[in-house]
Amino acid sequence: MRHGWHRGVTPAPGYPLCALAEIPDGGGRGFVFGGGTERRAIFVVRRGDRVFAYENSCPHVGTPLDWVPDQFLDRDGAHILCSTHGALFRIEDGYCLSGPCAGDRLSQVAVAVRDGMVVMRGGTAS
Ligand code: FES
Repeated sequence: MRHGWHRGVTPAPGYPLCALAEIPDGGGRGFVFGGGTERRAIFVVRRGDRVFAYENSCPHVGTPLDWVPDQFLDRDGAHILCSTHGALFRIEDGYCLSGPCAGDRLSQVAVAVRDGMVVMRGGTAS
């Protein structure tokens, strides 16, 4: 298993995470499912009506990315930032642009916006 990849509780497709309006436009929000060895943490970044979701686990050494809850972006909101060693990731596809895991990627999570709600799509994002 590579760093940053966890298999824990997976909510069923259609499972509602929150209303889109509960994620600030240009910001993000974290979610945790299950506990113990089944614990799974993900986060969602919002750009207008679009959402991008990833496992909350850095591909470098597997730590959570946020330094305080729901703070997943760098200062200008242009990239996802790992708070541990400063890796920067593209919001759109999780590709690591700089830092110790440059060239690696965050693990995408399949989510969608339906009727104003952010929901799980199940499986991995494509
Ligand atoms: S754990 Fe994320 S950059 Fe090191």
